[in-house]
Amino acid sequence: MSLHETFGQPLLTFPDAEKSPLSIRAKALVFVDPRSRQLREELEQLAPRSLPVLIRGETGSGKELLARHIHRASDRGGLFVSVNCGAISPTYADAELFGYAAGAHSSSASSRAGWFGSANGGTLYLDEIGDLPLPIQIKLLAALENHEVTRVGAQQPSPVDVRLVAATSIDLAQAVAVGKFNERLYHYLSEGRLDLPALRERVGDILSLAEYFLGIYSQRLSLPVPLISEAAQQVLERHSWPGNTRELENVIHFALLVSSGDEILPEHLNLPDSTNPLTQIEQQVEQLLAFARPGQLSELQRLLERLSQRVSQAPR
Ligand SMILES: Nc1ncnc2c1ncn2[C@@H]1O[C@H](COP(=O)(O)OP(=O)(O)OP(=O)(O)O)[C@@H](O)[C@H]1O
Ligand SMILES: [Mg+2]
Repeated sequence: MSLHETFGQPLLTFPDAEKSPLSIRAKALVFVDPRSRQLREELEQLAPRSLPVLIRGETGSGKELLARHIHRASDRGGLFVSVNCGAISPTYADAELFGYAAGAHSSSASSRAGWFGSANGGTLYLDEIGDLPLPIQIKLLAALENHEVTRVGAQQPSPVDVRLVAATSIDLAQAVAVGKFNERLYHYLSEGRLDLPALRERVGDILSLAEYFLGIYSQRLSLPVPLISEAAQQVLERHSWPGNTRELENVIHFALLVSSGDEILPEHLNLPDSTNPLTQIEQQVEQLLAFARPGQLSELQRLLERLSQRVSQAPR
């Protein structure tokens, strides 16, 4: 992994990105905001150690990209194996994760290593680890602590050396409190913790990421790289990005396709223009509607009625 300067900003890149089977998007990590720089320092300290890491962050904030960088920076020779725990069927979770021995069930003529075995010598990335069934959580902890795993139907455990990086978008401490997550596994994972702030909390990354995605998509589509107008920059920086970096990437891709080619304007972004006071009021009303308690709704209704009276009396 090396540090380059792109768009005047530091950029971490994979040295062999061109050979990598990863998508074009996963080749660099834009970290400009002071909070992201701090995170990068934490990442660099944690990566070379074999500690497990728990990444906490909202959806689309870049957890998997971070995990891939941890693997790269750790110099572990094995594979980076990425598994979405929410997508594993609870019935087959044991076999999928830990593998099975030949003849373990009627259809298994040969054995299978499972995700855990495939990550031997490398890194196993478990996305949304909170979705793992409780019995599997216990087996996972035992495999990590004892460095061995027993495949479904096997008589003997096999040795494994796996570094675990797990991710969650929910509060696992709360899941522990309500008995949905194993407390010992939680403490084991918490040894190395990385909190990835939501994009709206690291506004300093937004324009660099936008320029980075513009560069990537322009190159991919063989288009000239347009500039981002001052007004569009403001819209980007003021948006709250509930879908985080993935949402920004999609917005920029779309803007590139609908712009005339030399400049991205606010109307190309397809986002609410939050520099417009009416949009701000609309967003606040939406928030109030989403979070207000019943008593507050009648207060809101009273305010809106006053506003509507004033508007109807105002000179046009
Ligand atoms: N710092 C960054 N620099 C460059 N690209 C980024 C950065 N963070 C995220 N991305 C890009 O944003 C997209 C979403 O990132 P990623 O898939 O890692 O998020 P995630 O947190 O794992 O999402 P989910 O919660 O849906 O699993 C990817 O295309 C990724 O390459
Ligand atoms: Mg992910």
